[in-house]
Amino acid sequence: MVTILIVDDDPLISRTLKMHLTEKGYEVFLSSSGQEALEKLNRQQLDFILLDIRLPDLGGLEVLRQIKEKNPKASVVVMTAYDDMKTTVEAIKLGAFEYLVKPINFLELDLTLEKLKQIKSLETKVSYFIEERQKEYTIDNIVGHSPAMREVFKLIGSVANTRTNVLIQGESGTGKELVAKAIHYNSPWRTEPFIVINCSALSETLLESELFGHVRGAFTDAVSETKGKFEIAGKGTLFLDEVGDISLNLQSKLLRVIETRDYMKVGGEKILRAEARIIAATNQNLKALVEKGRFREDLYYRLKVVEINLPPLRERREDIPELVAYLLEKINRELRKNVRVVPPEVMKMLVEAPWRGNVRELENVLTRAVILARGEVILPEYIFLESEPQRIYSEELKPLREIEKEYIQHVLWKVNGHKLKASQILGISRPTLDKKIKEYNIVLPPET
Ligand SMILES: Nc1ncnc2c1ncn2[C@@H]1O[C@H](COP(=O)(O)OP(=O)(O)OP(=O)(O)O)[C@@H](O)[C@H]1O
Ligand SMILES: [Mg+2]
Repeated sequence: MVTILIVDDDPLISRTLKMHLTEKGYEVFLSSSGQEALEKLNRQQLDFILLDIRLPDLGGLEVLRQIKEKNPKASVVVMTAYDDMKTTVEAIKLGAFEYLVKPINFLELDLTLEKLKQIKSLETKVSYFIEERQKEYTIDNIVGHSPAMREVFKLIGSVANTRTNVLIQGESGTGKELVAKAIHYNSPWRTEPFIVINCSALSETLLESELFGHVRGAFTDAVSETKGKFEIAGKGTLFLDEVGDISLNLQSKLLRVIETRDYMKVGGEKILRAEARIIAATNQNLKALVEKGRFREDLYYRLKVVEINLPPLRERREDIPELVAYLLEKINRELRKNVRVVPPEVMKMLVEAPWRGNVRELENVLTRAVILARGEVILPEYIFLESEPQRIYSEELKPLREIEKEYIQHVLWKVNGHKLKASQILGISRPTLDKKIKEYNIVLPPET
């Protein structure tokens, strides 16, 4: 039942309101002075407070101030005896939800309370979602006990409470975004936005306007003013993914923002303030890019105030069984399946696989296996490694073409995509190899 406290020194008004609200299904409590109301609120949680602004002892505004001080979320509706705008404005400033002019119009009162109820339930939902998200990104969701991962956990713990910039480096699929979210959602700014921006996906001009926003007419397509991600992120986190791909020109603009915190929208003149914490990620070796002159050294140092290096999965194979169990559980939940048994020979395959695509590849391989599985068990033939087809001969007999495709792909991955080497091993010419790659649609390993 929704509870209401009526604070009014006029017994007639209190009683009439109580009768009406009880009839409407509320549980009503009465206080005839500010002091009494505050004492009651100390003892008991009440949903709404109907507060007369002219009280004999403390005065309504003072009571409101003290209520809000103790519980900023308290929903207070103030009642004014006449249309005293000055006090009303003051009350709203202090955080009253609404004001009603006496004599109270019941219809107006009912509508106000309805509105409050809706807002309350929305607030509960929102805080529920925020809590759920936080659960999703607790450190518990980053699996691993290897020494390298322990180091990562330590770093997450020590930077979460600060606003320093963080640089996360690691191969594709090692969990860079996961770690960035863990930092954000474990920080005091967890209810502020976590904004991702993929720096490699956009052209220089688009990226600049994504970061800083633009004013109307800044360029041909700028038909209206937009907010940049810096502005949207507020005091939250701006996650700059693939930061190594930012052009040198934009790098110097970014550097300036980090140094001065000031920036302008593209084409704009007003100076805005950048408050977000920056977490940058890259799967390239940023230091090497600096040496090649493709990344500004000063920006590099500004970003890597704290540096987190995520180890490739093949360098922490001891974490694989735990990861398999964790990921299977997650996949089963998503797919509403119940595939839990991993026979030792399958676990051995998983522990020994090359995992060039790291945890993401492991997750994909397991997802496929779960989809293929009929019962609870993952059979070896459900395991298809993305980066390296291992078994050329499976139980199923196949046409030569298919074996040829698989084997060429296998060799290419073994030699890291080095076509000359591959053609020598295969005993065919380079052009023939190229032809076959095209004909069979062979997937080449990512450039290393
Ligand atoms: N240590 C880990 N524990 C549990 N899940 C993990 C771990 N590392 C990565 N994952 C999972 O693997 C997938 C890939 O992780 P994520 O997207 O964070 O990687 P990334 O480094 O950003 O990859 P990319 O460079 O390809 O963007 C995600 O589904 C993530 O939840
Ligand atoms: Mg990523």
